[in-house]
Amino acid sequence: MSLAVKAGTIALPGAMRHNSRMEPADPTDRRHDDGPSATVAEGERKVSSALEALLDFYISAGADGWLELEPSDAFALSETVPAARTAPAGMPAAPTAGPAARQMPPQFQPPQSQPPQSQPPRSAPPMRAPAAPAQGAMAAGAAVVPGDEVVVAAREAARTAATLDDLRETLSRFDGCNLKLTAKSLVFADGPANARVMFVGEAPGREEDARGLPFVGRSGQLLDRMLEAIGLARGEVYITNVVPWRPPGNRTPSPQETEICKPFVLRQIELVRPKVLVFLGGASAKALTGVQDGILRLRGRWLDLPLGPAAQGATIRAVATLHPAYLLRSPVQKRYAWRDFLAIRAALDEASGT
Ligand code: URA
Repeated sequence: MSLAVKAGTIALPGAMRHNSRMEPADPTDRRHDDGPSATVAEGERKVSSALEALLDFYISAGADGWLELEPSDAFALSETVPAARTAPAGMPAAPTAGPAARQMPPQFQPPQSQPPQSQPPRSAPPMRAPAAPAQGAMAAGAAVVPGDEVVVAAREAARTAATLDDLRETLSRFDGCNLKLTAKSLVFADGPANARVMFVGEAPGREEDARGLPFVGRSGQLLDRMLEAIGLARGEVYITNVVPWRPPGNRTPSPQETEICKPFVLRQIELVRPKVLVFLGGASAKALTGVQDGILRLRGRWLDLPLGPAAQGATIRAVATLHPAYLLRSPVQKRYAWRDFLAIRAALDEASGT
């Protein structure tokens, strides 16, 4: 959401109108020398509580930054959505999840005090994006409505990257996605290039944006503990997101933003070629498989994800599980994640013949 608060839209008591930049009253200011009257002091208190209430409203509505002075329609920016990929045929059953008797570790158990929730809370309202001058090619540094040619350019750029380092460099120079304009950093990935298991989330959040690394906030800390429970260290897995820039206010990336970023994550999968690929949450599963089922139906069902043409028909064992952020909100669902993580462990052991 961009904030369009213009001077004059808030009724100011007369004593404050001279201060159009809303500077805090400075007690050393010459204007206060002859002693502020009770009326002026009262007016200042009213303005400051009106501003606080307004800021509270914006923050609770999900706004966390000031993007532009004039509002614009982000829905209009997302109207040219490329067609989603069709679902791959057949969703084979999950491999056996190892010793079923293995006890559910504490990180997969809901806290006792937490009331169970069955529905995930509604996602943050979409934030408005800067107005677009025209549909077509992207100009560096300016937001425009990207057309299909941006998706084609993204595919071409990703395809030509020979290594993960190349790909990171290519992505850092890519200006086709408007999310880059509001994010602080490119959140490319974390983990070794030869990892046996790769996790893909949706998009970085505030903490990830600040540190330039995926899954380092509260969700990431839960993910680390879940990995640990199946004997995996954070340092041996590869973690990334479908979208490498934080959407403003943590809103859901638009289908178009997802489509533009997708070639880069698909190329990461080809270059890492993990034994097991895990989609963290429905958004990444849907984006990368084209399957439209909800995550509660999708999770735990294994599929063979076809790699790009360069991989000559090779596929990767892939499974979706519940997003750690969802587990934080709905801890009662952790029992399903535990089953999925046991199945991931079993698939890794099977791949290494143990
Ligand atoms: N959620 C995601 O999907 N990705 C992150 O990197 C962090 C939170």
